[in-house]
Amino acid sequence: PLVSTTEMFKKAYEGGYAIGAFNVNNMEIVQGIVDAAKEEQSPLILQVSAGARKYAKHIYLVKLVEAALEDTGLPIALHLDHGEDFEICKSCIDGGFTSVMIDGSKHDFETNVALTKQVVEYAHAHGVVVEGELGRLAGVEDDVNVSEKDALFTDPDQAAEFVERTGVDSLAIAIGTSHGAYKFKGTPYLDFERLEKVGKLLPNFPIVLHGASTVLPEFVEKCNQYGGNIPGAQGVPEDMLRKAAGMSVCKINIDTDLRLAMTASIRECLTQNPSEFDPRKYLGPARDAIKGMVQHKIKNVLGSSGKL
Ligand code: G3H
Ligand code: 13P
Ligand code: ZN
Ligand code: NA
Repeated sequence: PLVSTTEMFKKAYEGGYAIGAFNVNNMEIVQGIVDAAKEEQSPLILQVSAGARKYAKHIYLVKLVEAALEDTGLPIALHLDHGEDFEICKSCIDGGFTSVMIDGSKHDFETNVALTKQVVEYAHAHGVVVEGELGRLAGVEDDVNVSEKDALFTDPDQAAEFVERTGVDSLAIAIGTSHGAYKFKGTPYLDFERLEKVGKLLPNFPIVLHGASTVLPEFVEKCNQYGGNIPGAQGVPEDMLRKAAGMSVCKINIDTDLRLAMTASIRECLTQNPSEFDPRKYLGPARDAIKGMVQHKIKNVLGSSGKL
């Protein structure tokens, strides 16, 4: 059966590595990711956003992930990414997920606490774990001043209070990452001091990093080379992710790097074979590109190879 993240995070915390949480929307993405994890003998989190559920339907995604489980025998957790209210979390808990995120970060602190607590109560009663979020995900210039950072980033004392009062199993925090392909205008910057403080106040507690794609230049360049237009894209450098994985960060979220690997491959394929119109001829290579990228992450960045 699908596993919880509890055991994965405990081992990751102690071992100084992180588990990759990859967003899935269709069969080729699922297969590319699990084939990589299988070759690396790595635990894995597959996550589904509200948009993914809308696109593919809940049941198709659950069945794809169940197929992946049966095919690979890997410990795989199925997680709801950025659940925005109690209802979507309940729907995923009732519908076979082993982990849900309630993202109350847009609310004020007390509303976030109350909403998260409500989800935790229902989830725990059904054997499901919960990820909360506190702070605003935003990239900042490296010369940003302290008060600007304090306004956006997660306050370590509040993080400790949030975990204590809600009973969440893991917490996403804001230290400078952001979603998508344009994370930093200038030099990439993450607030490791803040991460360190959170780690001291919440010992043995798993922290989650969202917006953690590297926006790998090889894929951006390939997209642009074959008719794409994504100038100035920049992500989180791999050495920063390695550093975070060595600290209290136990889950690293990756979607944009999957999208870029897939799109670069499809663009190249269609440009080089203009008379081809069998979808397998471009989705197959796209699946291989995803597999290669994910294998690289697991082995060289997350450090979860061989950690079954
Ligand atoms: O955090 C967002 C993930 O990349 C999912 O994106 O909402 O477009 O499916 P999505
Ligand atoms: P990226 O856009 O950096 O891949 O972040 C994905 C994410 O945080 C999903 O929740
Ligand atoms: Zn996210
Ligand atoms: Na870690």
